[in-house]
Amino acid sequence: MGNVIAVVNHKGGVGKTTTAINLAAGLTRYSDVTSSCLIIDMDPHGCATSTLLGKLDGEPPARSVFDVLRRAITPQDGIASTIYDENIDLLPASPSLESMAKTQITDRLAKVVQALSTSYGWIIIDTPPDLGVLTQNALVAADYALIPTPCTGLAIPTLHQMKQLIERVQERQNIWLQLMGVLVTMKDGRTPLQKNMKKELGNVFGPNDVFRTIITTNIKIEEAPAASQSIYAYDSGCLGASLYRDWIKKEFLKKHQKLEKRKVEMREHMELTREAAAEEG
Ligand SMILES: Nc1ncnc2c1ncn2[C@@H]1O[C@H](COP(=O)(O)OP(=O)(O)OP(=O)(O)O)[C@@H](O)[C@H]1O
Ligand SMILES: [Mg+2]
Repeated sequence: MGNVIAVVNHKGGVGKTTTAINLAAGLTRYSDVTSSCLIIDMDPHGCATSTLLGKLDGEPPARSVFDVLRRAITPQDGIASTIYDENIDLLPASPSLESMAKTQITDRLAKVVQALSTSYGWIIIDTPPDLGVLTQNALVAADYALIPTPCTGLAIPTLHQMKQLIERVQERQNIWLQLMGVLVTMKDGRTPLQKNMKKELGNVFGPNDVFRTIITTNIKIEEAPAASQSIYAYDSGCLGASLYRDWIKKEFLKKHQKLEKRKVEMREHMELTREAAAEEG
């Protein structure tokens, strides 16, 4: 089963970390798959790491995903427990990940994920706001790419580059990578979503690749990380919690099921083609 999700967008401040954390927490609560979840923080700034460990002073953790990637420690030894209410573990980020970003190594995280995949129901990878080596590692390691984005005229054109990177990784390094979808985030609840913007978003990817749910701006979503809580633990009745919950239950999990089925069909097709070629040869 493919349960590794890379949360990507090279534009900064679009809700990647917020979505990664609330997706992970939501999956432990609402998915039938084993409820444990691992978050891998590939952003040297370590925002997910700070909130999940409750260390908002910015002090880097003693062991990080960088130590695992440079093979100084085993993947298992890099894992930290989080202080969140949900069953979420963490491979923490550290500023030294910046030095990995200067290399050409793009397949190292995939091996780490492979070693950990049987221990968790889901693995969510948070990424930095660029198209560089750290984001590429996440896409090579992932089964699915999830793209949070505001639906604005400035944000949409940059998504072409994100799409190109995903396609390049699919062609060269990870044929099983699929787009989970585009999630519109941080929409000002007071202004209506411009129809042409949503259409434009659908033109970059495909109309079926844009989730119907729209995550509006909500003060509780912004406050929850400072309390080191998911949105569901912080205020389960608030608008932000119900938006993320509905998205996971009504869209994300269904889309995941559909794409998993497609992957099985692709594998069977490839197997049959290989057998036919072998018989002919
Ligand atoms: N729906 C929302 N409503 C209100 N605030 C939000 C919402 N989503 C995210 N935020 C806030 O916006 C800021 C940016 O969000 P976040 O850190 O998730 O973005 P990011 O894409 O991970 O940023 P970066 O690219 O810098 O890593 C944070 O302060 C976060 O709390
Ligand atoms: Mg972030």
